[in-house]
Amino acid sequence: MHPAHIDALARDLATASLTSEGIRALVGAGAEAALARAVAAPARRAALRSPGARSTLLRALVLGDAVPADELADALPSLGVDGAVALGIVALDGDAARPLVAIRPCAFRDALGEGEWWIASDLDELAGVAPLRPDHVLGIGGAARTLAALLPPADAPVGAALDLGTGCGVIALHLRRFADRVVATDVSERALRFAALNARLNGVDGIETRLGSLFEPVAGERFDLIASNPPFVITPREPGVPAFEYRDGGRTGDALMGEVVAGLAEHLTARGEARLLGNWESIAGADGLDRAGAWASDGLDVWAIERESLDPVRYAELWLRDGGTLPRDADFPRLAGAWLDDFEARGVTAIGMGWIAARASGGGRPPLRRLERVGQAVALEHVGAHLRSALDDAAWLAGIDDDALRETVLVAPPDVTEARHQLPGAAGPNVIELRQGGGLGRSLPVDTALAALVGASDGELPVGTLLAAIAGLLEVDEAVLAADLLPRVRELVLTGFLHRRRD
Ligand SMILES: C[S@@+](CC[C@H](N)C(=O)[O-])C[C@H]1O[C@@H](n2cnc3c(N)ncnc32)[C@H](O)[C@@H]1O
Repeated sequence: MHPAHIDALARDLATASLTSEGIRALVGAGAEAALARAVAAPARRAALRSPGARSTLLRALVLGDAVPADELADALPSLGVDGAVALGIVALDGDAARPLVAIRPCAFRDALGEGEWWIASDLDELAGVAPLRPDHVLGIGGAARTLAALLPPADAPVGAALDLGTGCGVIALHLRRFADRVVATDVSERALRFAALNARLNGVDGIETRLGSLFEPVAGERFDLIASNPPFVITPREPGVPAFEYRDGGRTGDALMGEVVAGLAEHLTARGEARLLGNWESIAGADGLDRAGAWASDGLDVWAIERESLDPVRYAELWLRDGGTLPRDADFPRLAGAWLDDFEARGVTAIGMGWIAARASGGGRPPLRRLERVGQAVALEHVGAHLRSALDDAAWLAGIDDDALRETVLVAPPDVTEARHQLPGAAGPNVIELRQGGGLGRSLPVDTALAALVGASDGELPVGTLLAAIAGLLEVDEAVLAADLLPRVRELVLTGFLHRRRD
């Protein structure tokens, strides 16, 4: 890949405005939205009606359609068709140029705001490719968008960051927005070529690609931030079951996830953090979330959040569909059988899917092991900041006793509201609920005393003073009230319903 060719391609994409906005203007909002659902026909129809450089590039690079070579030449005045062939993005079939990769504009939002990249990846379902090749390199999907949202806010300098299993390099691009340098690893040389292409295409330097499995390419190195959307999909290790490199790490069950989590502590700097996506199995009565927590070694605070749990049948169906095998296909029963045999043989009863946030704990106290099921809708834009402050607060809470907590001034953030429910005609509420708009979108039933404490936490008076006032108002013993409320206040701080006042 000649850098000059990549730079010429970037110029041509920009000149043609092959951007999300440009595509919307060309094909309309409905057809553009359909692209995200892998439905190409409406955009193709609209593009064919409006010939021009953007239309040609949309059909070739976004939809994966063969286009006349002379049209492509007009659409790529800097790169030219020969340059596109040399770059490996098209092949010539007579007078037609056949795309070999997809290059799509991808709008994003992360801790530093909004932006857009062009992301090159293998042709996929949107381009009518099914089943995918075993070494398929993914473009930006929902998982990558989620992981990007889990990254901590960019409020402190990050020296070195690691993207483990980089694929097309999208997470490395996010990391480089706030890290001085990024190492992006993968077992796939093809993936690393895409990652390098995407970095150059988007004018991003400081991303070093390294070939190798898991932490091998970074042996002995430490990072301030590690992010990974690893190949966590549990796949039966049986001959004849297709394995896709982008999702399957070649281990039995969830062993690869265990290796990634176990390797974090020795690759994080003293205040280093990690964000992972993952799957974990409940095996023979042992809860999968507990197993996920147990993967971490000492020296690491871990917060594992299970977003969904699937039974083996639904899990097998999900990943068979993802690989392009539908229930109506002849191979479905054999493949589903292989998945179910594997789960049965190993006693797997459920598979949890979720997020892991971790941080070097520095020793001197027991590491945090917080294991939660969070099934409600969560606004992703709040999650990265919440996980950071929750891990900070967990470390702070672990270091203070109840006397120190009484001295602390807390603040209920403005996204916290209270809902009161009462039976028609009742004198007072039967249920009081606190809700948060940010954080993990939690709602929490509380009693009058705790609601009063949260309501009065406006950053003025310490917890102890509020406790005394509430005990007086409710005419209850202050020590009894404190013993009841202080553990719950700790939980409210951890979950973001209350914050420490930062002077
Ligand atoms: C789910 S994809 C994630 C790609 C990209 N980071 C994203 O979020 O879209 C997982 C990536 O891990 C790579 N991979 C598979 N086995 C690996 C291993 N043992 N060590 C490192 N990377 C691996 C795959 O080639 C693939 O690119």
